[in-house]
Amino acid sequence: MQYIEQLGPDNRDLSMFPGEYGLPYLGKTVEIVKDTLGYCNYHYEKYGPISRLDMVRNQRVLMCLGPEFNEAALFDPKGNFSAAGGYGSSLGTLYPEGMLVRDDKKHKRTRRASQPAFKNDALKTYVEMMNPIQERRIQDLPVNEEFIFYDNIQKTLMDVAAKVFLGLDERSPEAQKLNDTFERINKGLITPFPYDLPFSPFRKSLAARQELRNFLTSNIPLRRGTDRKDMFSRYCNAQDEDGEYLEDVDIDGHIAFLLFAAFDTTTSALTNILYYLGKNPGWQEKVRNELFEVKNEMPTFDDMAEMTLTEYVFQETLRFYPSVMILNRRTTRDVTVAGYDIPANTVIMLSPPFTHRMEEWWSNPHEFDPMRFSPERAEHKKHGFSYIPFGGGAHKCIGMHFAMMNAKLYLFRLLKNYKVTLRDNYNPKFMHVHLPRPIDGLPITLTRI
Ligand code: HEM
Repeated sequence: MQYIEQLGPDNRDLSMFPGEYGLPYLGKTVEIVKDTLGYCNYHYEKYGPISRLDMVRNQRVLMCLGPEFNEAALFDPKGNFSAAGGYGSSLGTLYPEGMLVRDDKKHKRTRRASQPAFKNDALKTYVEMMNPIQERRIQDLPVNEEFIFYDNIQKTLMDVAAKVFLGLDERSPEAQKLNDTFERINKGLITPFPYDLPFSPFRKSLAARQELRNFLTSNIPLRRGTDRKDMFSRYCNAQDEDGEYLEDVDIDGHIAFLLFAAFDTTTSALTNILYYLGKNPGWQEKVRNELFEVKNEMPTFDDMAEMTLTEYVFQETLRFYPSVMILNRRTTRDVTVAGYDIPANTVIMLSPPFTHRMEEWWSNPHEFDPMRFSPERAEHKKHGFSYIPFGGGAHKCIGMHFAMMNAKLYLFRLLKNYKVTLRDNYNPKFMHVHLPRPIDGLPITLTRI
């Protein structure tokens, strides 16, 4: 909780706004967890674009709906909004050194230190690392029998993370152990009682976070001076203008947060992409035809640029279900946005999926129509902040291209080999929190092409 302490208490007086606080302790968390988008729609219809509510631990929050609020809070050239203040009490408990829990100069320094790991030459080497892992995993998929796609893709992406982020052989016992550690850490993020008490899930998460820290810090000296190409080794060998290495605590903080930010988000995105491709076989065929046009059997970084229709499908899926359904910030001073005065130190909540379905900005927003992202239509460019699956401004997702690449490579292998079908009249309920996906994990059947 160190960031909250540094920033001082949140503003709790939101009496000038309409809304409802909900239950003691939980506030409106149950409603938000059940159906984030539905709850935002309900507030918008009843109270308009700005309204108050309480979240877990009675954190008082102002729901701000629409691209004007997104722009003010994310683009934010004057520093009126703090990401550390928005996420300190959630992400900050387990990832206090995470990039998203830093503001201003501290954030800039972290971001600069991370750039080399996300430049094109680095991405090219990651493609080479991902290819064989995905190939092996896709060869092992069950054929002609139904299986739960979410569980499967989770394992595949864990393997990718072990290799690309940590430089481990994904089949080694060390990688398997770290996967388990990572899962235990993240359980602490969804508990409504994040208190370090004996036997609590949160204490177990803190212990798992310590295990990851031990692994990373003990390996830093072994990675220094090597030319290994994984992200962890790149951070270990990065030097600032004075030729100094990053501090161990920073390397640990960056890598732990990257694993968190990268893994579940892409798992959710790929699950939802397969849902939409299963629901829209015509689109599945179009994407497959495009992928057959790629000449290389092991696609290269440059091949990704040719996969345009695949990219539109990716974008359209994230329009419906952006992996991060809620973005938070906290005002640093009194600010006025879209004619509303918001007091200093107020935690605000933005809703990407709400903005992604506003009729003012999207034609037939409830229709699956990837071509809306084509240059001819470019609906996502009508307002710079009506489409924010990767956020925007200083904290815009640093892994956006990595995520897209990972998804394209996976779809390349999967769709060239298999046809994906869903159950007849499959109409799942979607869960929205922690990350959006069909509640049943998306049962699919593959048949060979
Ligand atoms: C489909 C996949 C992904 C989605 C939808 C996604 C979404 C986002 C969003 C919305 C933010 C901004 C949050 C905010 O401003 O409040 C963000 C930030 C971030 N993402 Fe992603 N992300 C994805 C994949 C990845 C991957 C693969 C990585 C790393 C390899 C990554 C690393 C990060 C980091 C480090 C930040 C914080 C950036 C900063 O504070 O400057 N993300 N992501």
